[in-house]
Amino acid sequence: MNHHVKSMSLAAEGKQRIEWADRDMPVLRHIRERFQKEKPLKGLRVSACLHVTTETANLMRALKAGGASVVLCASNPLSTQDDTAAALVKHYGIPTFAIKGEDRKTYYKHLNTALDHRPHFTLDDGADLVTLLHTKRTHQAKEIRASLEETTTGVIRLRALEKSGKLTLPVFAVNDALTKYLFDNRYGTGQSTVDGIISATDLLIAGKIVVVAGYGWCGRGFAMRMRGMGAHVIVTEVDPIKAIEAAMDGFEVMTMERAAVKGDLFCTLTGDIHVLRKEHFKKMKDGAYVANSGHFDVEIDIPALKKLSRSVKRVRPFVDEYRISNIKSLYVLGEGRLINLAAAHGHPASVMDMSFATQALGLEYVAKQKKRLPAAVHIPPVAIEQWIAKLKLASMGISIDQLTPEQKHYLSSWLHGT
Ligand code: ADE
Repeated sequence: MNHHVKSMSLAAEGKQRIEWADRDMPVLRHIRERFQKEKPLKGLRVSACLHVTTETANLMRALKAGGASVVLCASNPLSTQDDTAAALVKHYGIPTFAIKGEDRKTYYKHLNTALDHRPHFTLDDGADLVTLLHTKRTHQAKEIRASLEETTTGVIRLRALEKSGKLTLPVFAVNDALTKYLFDNRYGTGQSTVDGIISATDLLIAGKIVVVAGYGWCGRGFAMRMRGMGAHVIVTEVDPIKAIEAAMDGFEVMTMERAAVKGDLFCTLTGDIHVLRKEHFKKMKDGAYVANSGHFDVEIDIPALKKLSRSVKRVRPFVDEYRISNIKSLYVLGEGRLINLAAAHGHPASVMDMSFATQALGLEYVAKQKKRLPAAVHIPPVAIEQWIAKLKLASMGISIDQLTPEQKHYLSSWLHGT
């Protein structure tokens, strides 16, 4: 089978870990078992550009069980789990093109190989496949019946493309489902970012001043966990509403200019460019740690930091020391790439269960459409969210109340007032 992975000798370990993750993905497993019987994706070609993790492997298994011919490449050069990639090829028959640490040229070669599969559907995490379909491979865009997007940053890029009037294919914003962003972005990013930072540094969080840039769902998840571990948390924001929320959630809110002098650890989760830049690096304390958990490696202006520094040295895996003067060094984690996948395993399976159930059902939904949807960014139907939420709740052993007929009637009438 056509593939490009680090080493097939890692496949047995990968299979074991994929099966371990599967234990915590009951909703996706349920979908896989139904797909196996019903084959709703029969004859369809799917190219996926996602983080190559054990959780993604279970999504690939579900789509293949549904009858799709699937190929997979990485959506980030540092997030691939090499054992998972090998297992996907050897044990699950899924052509995979991903190697942890691949250079930019190889990364794009892999994306192009995935598109050579001539997919009917693409799955993106960050919109890199869709971007190729609007730049170097425009001839192929009309063959795409829909593209599904996993992450906030991707959806922002796609909405910008839509606004420019240049979007040529329908996009399904998986990220915008409640069953995705409320849980994956908040609890998934919250926990896995802590995991990545601690794995890289062995840092004690208690008593540290942690500066969280961005109070979207990811930022608030991370801030919540840092506080829980005893940090003093400062939030920086550009959105006045989110800034008030952060303040009323009990965090100190200030500009990055002021926070720069205070922080022991900085983490960007904004989706924007150069959130930490020259003027901030100049103010930071000796020994400050700088990390990013946003999708792209642009949130920390690393070229500017390089220019400020006398030397750069790797002092442990995923930690680079930028020596600015004899008395000041800053430590950049994971090369400024998303730290939760660079230095840890990404979000836990239990939360990816809901995200990838939304992907699988989203794909089934767009595949069922008789006519190609309009070229626009579409949001997932509420019915999909509700179904996933009910199944997840059941898998957690939680029962909830039902509306009584009287309550239903009350909620649907407008006559009752004072
Ligand atoms: N994004 C964040 N965590 C992930 C994971 N474990 N698998 C796939 N994509 C992810």
